[in-house]
Amino acid sequence: MADFIRNPVVTLPDRNPAPHFCEQELAFTEEEKTKIARWVSQYPTPDGAVMWTLWLAQEKFGFLPPEVLRLVGEELGIPYAQVYGVATFYTQYYKQKKGVCVLDVCTCFSCQFTGGYDLLHYLEEKLGIHAGETTADGCFTLQEVECLGACGSAPMLQVSNGPFVHCVTRARADALIDALKAGRMPEFASVTLPQDEDELGGNRRTDVAFCERYATLPIAKHTR
Ligand code: FES
Repeated sequence: MADFIRNPVVTLPDRNPAPHFCEQELAFTEEEKTKIARWVSQYPTPDGAVMWTLWLAQEKFGFLPPEVLRLVGEELGIPYAQVYGVATFYTQYYKQKKGVCVLDVCTCFSCQFTGGYDLLHYLEEKLGIHAGETTADGCFTLQEVECLGACGSAPMLQVSNGPFVHCVTRARADALIDALKAGRMPEFASVTLPQDEDELGGNRRTDVAFCERYATLPIAKHTR
């Protein structure tokens, strides 16, 4: 059950939390700035590049606390509120520090009908945490997410914004956790969706390192 249904009282986040990064750390390198400028040049206005820049910032800093969102806004020359709005809309952007592996369990319609909540609750018990929490050893964060576009392979989950694990059974979830603890992805993960390869020309994901096994790199050519 989504958090807001379980607990309809919403606690607003601290508007001025203590920063996680110091001034010296909060900077893009010249190479990163060049990359961002190239993205900006592809759009009529700089805000068109906000998602790419947030992604780059997340890969660099690990997550997106307010001071990193401010850095992104300053680099693009757009208001903090605009960056914040985009970052908080997508679960794929991490606003808090996460575990080494983030397990996004879909509980939207198709996955819900095929056991998405059973899977979520099974992983909660197995990992000893609730959805939205991180294990004490920092290895796993478990999240409940909306449809990830793999409804035909429900129930499914995604690992750290990368590989999709389709048709997840308890046995498959056990094998996944064991493999991730050992620092590898099991073979059954990362099934490429048909539209990745054909209809969208492999234009679905940006995590190239995870996707080298794909026949078509899942990244749009014009953004490279
Ligand atoms: S409903 Fe789960 S991927 Fe679409």
